This record gives sequence, structure tokens and C-alpha cells, in this order.
Amino acid sequence: MKLYTVCLCVLWCLGMVAGQQYAPPTFLWQSLVTPQPYNTGYIYSHNATLKYYSQDFQTVYMSNDNFGHNERVLINLGDACNIKNYNDVQALNNFSIQQFTVSQNLMGLVSRGGCDSWQVKLNNIQSLGQFFQLTGVLLYDNVTYPQSQLIQHNPSTTNTPTWPSSFDPPQRNISLMLDNDLRNYSSYLAVYFAPNEFGTAMLGKLNAYSFGPTVSIAQQQYVQMATYFQEQAMTDNPSPTSSSNGSSSDGGGSLFDTFVGNRGYIAYLVAAGAAIVFGTRKSKT
Ligand SMILES: *[C@@H]1O[C@H](CO)[C@@H](O)[C@H](O)[C@H]1NC(C)=O
Ligand SMILES: *[C@@H]1O[C@H](CO)[C@@H](O)[C@H](O)[C@H]1NC(C)=O
Ligand SMILES: *[C@@H]1O[C@H](CO)[C@@H](O)[C@H](O)[C@H]1NC(C)=O
Ligand SMILES: *[C@@H]1O[C@H](CO)[C@@H](O)[C@H](O)[C@H]1NC(C)=O
Ligand SMILES: *[C@@H]1O[C@H](CO)[C@@H](O)[C@H](O)[C@H]1NC(C)=O
Ligand SMILES: *[C@@H]1O[C@H](CO)[C@@H](O)[C@H](O)[C@H]1NC(C)=O
Repeated sequence: MKLYTVCLCVLWCLGMVAGQQYAPPTFLWQSLVTPQPYNTGYIYSHNATLKYYSQDFQTVYMSNDNFGHNERVLINLGDACNIKNYNDVQALNNFSIQQFTVSQNLMGLVSRGGCDSWQVKLNNIQSLGQFFQLTGVLLYDNVTYPQSQLIQHNPSTTNTPTWPSSFDPPQRNISLMLDNDLRNYSSYLAVYFAPNEFGTAMLGKLNAYSFGPTVSIAQQQYVQMATYFQEQAMTDNPSPTSSSNGSSSDGGGSLFDTFVGNRGYIAYLVAAGAAIVFGTRKSKT
């Protein structure tokens, strides 16, 4: 009975955490991969790996991306306002969903707009969890701003752009978007916001085909993506046969680096940790 109460408290604390404001990604790492036969993994395409930077990259929910291991394959989910089942997703992806896609962690590429509620979008995406391992969402703006910049660098470059301390115009800030009704919402999905230019660029890379070095028929390529919260040099061309992103360390740096300036989060984590220990001790009696 007491353990149950403690568990509820932990869930409540974690729910509160989910709604906090997180640090924006420093950059988004993006590559193209070709699935290997018999679902034995994938190979990286040559000269297809980039780092993207934008002031408009913002974090809605970080989930556990700060611990790294967040490489995901991108699938198109349209505006996600009415998406209900597997076939809806197939249609939005030109029927390119295959066994490979289903076995990977996925990031849904979702356009802002179509409905004035991000909750509706996330509810629909979470209900697709019965078909797909959707663990992330990249929501891109339906509005373009001349002030918004999208910069791309080779992965080995560590030249982080500096951005103004505020948005011009302020509406580029997700906190001021009226359709962002996620403040009291909790989600296991990592959710990021990106400028329209980035969403459009990624849409253009979906459903690409390439002739690999050893095959004579064109093979479907998939977009792979990961968020990083600290600058780091990475391999320009991850070895085609390695199943890694070419980085020597994970995407997050240390827990405390990531949460600098967000002490409330740490307080909740400590409280949640203490509650778990307390609950475990109690349950042994
Ligand atoms: C990869 O990029 C380098 C540098 O831009 C270029 O010299 C090379 O030809 C490219 N290789 C392929 C296979 O496209
Ligand atoms: C990148 O690859 C490394 C080495 O395989 C792995 O530890 C790390 O989790 C990967 N990072 C992401 C963001 O997937
Ligand atoms: C963009 O989406 C918002 C939120 O749904 C909506 O109010 C706005 O009209 C849309 N703008 C365009 C240009 O589609
Ligand atoms: C975005 O808006 C929030 C809430 O008004 C504010 O605290 C934050 O500083 C803004 N961020 C930027 C980069 O302007
Ligand atoms: C979130 O919940 C608080 C307290 O219940 C409420 O005052 C606030 O209006 C809610 N915010 C949103 C955006 O729903
Ligand atoms: C859809 O897939 C077919 C092959 O199945 C391809 O020929 C076509 O170019 C693709 N269309 C788009 C818009 O990606």
C-alpha cells in the first residue's frame, strides 16, 4: 500500500520533469543508411553525413537523450493530426516501410499546423507505438522566417555558431506558440522543434535511392539522425561496415553538463531516486 503511494509519487515527479524547459541541441547529426539483407543492420552511405545547426532547434522533451544512444531512423508522419494506423504511415512514406524500419528506433518527422494542438499530434504518434518503435519526434515549423538560419558542417568541424540571446521575431520561440499545449503533458517521446527549412531538407532526403558499390539495383536509403548537446568532432565518413555513428563518445556528455542551469530537474531526480530507495526498503519488510 505504501509502496504504491511512493510509486505514484515517483510517476508524478517524472511527469513534472517532462514538462520542464530543456537546453536546445547544439547540433543535429544526420546520415544516410542502406539496410543490409536479412535485417542484419545497415551500412552508411558515402559523403552523406552532416551536422546541422540552427537557433530554431529547440527541445520540447529530452526524454533520456542526454544519455546518448539516440540514433534514430526518420519516417514521415505528415502533420500527425489524423494518422491512425500502419497503412497511414506507409502511404506517407511512399510504401518504403519495411522490416528494417520496424526493427529500428524511429523519429517521426512532423509538420506544425493542420490542427492547433501538439497534444493531438503526440497522442496519435504514441498510439502508433503498437506498430513502430517510435521514440522521438522532430516537429518542424510550418512558417518560414527570413531571420532563421540553417547551417551545415562536415562532422569533423567543431565550429559551433553563436546565436543571439533571444529570437527575432519572438514567435520563433516554442514557449510562445499557442498550439504548443504540452506544458502539462508528459511523454516518453523525445520531442524536438526545427525550422521549416530543416523539415523540408529532410523530406527531400527521404525515399532516396542509391546504387551501392556492389549492387546493381537501386536500394532504398534511410535518413538517420541523432541530437547532440555538446560540440564534438566526429568522423566525416563513418565506415560503411561499422554500425556506429563515427563518434568516439555518446551524444550527451555528462548528466550534469547537460543540466547546467536546470537545477530543478536534478532536484526531482534526487527526490525520485530517494523515493525508489525508500520504496525498495519498505517492500522488504
Ligand atoms: C566525397 O567528398 C569528397 C570531398 O568533397 C570528394 O572529393 C569525393 O569525390 C566524394 N566522393 C564521392 C564518392 O562522392
Ligand atoms: C554513437 O556511436 C557510439 C559508438 O558506437 C555509441 O556509443 C553512441 O551511443 C552513438 N551515439 C548516438 C547518438 O547514437
Ligand atoms: C501554422 O500552424 C499554426 C498552428 O496550427 C496555425 O495557426 C497557422 O495558421 C499555420 N500557418 C500556416 C502558414 O500554415
Ligand atoms: C523563450 O520564451 C521563454 C518564455 O517566455 C523565455 O523564458 C526564454 O528565455 C525564451 N528563449 C529565447 C531564446 O528567447
Ligand atoms: C497547467 O496546469 C496548471 C495547474 O493545474 C494550470 O494553472 C495551467 O493553466 C495549465 N497550463 C496549460 C497550458 O494547460
Ligand atoms: C516512390 O517510390 C518509387 C519506387 O517504389 C520511386 O520510383 C518514386 O520515385 C518514389 N517517389 C517519391 C516521391 O519518393
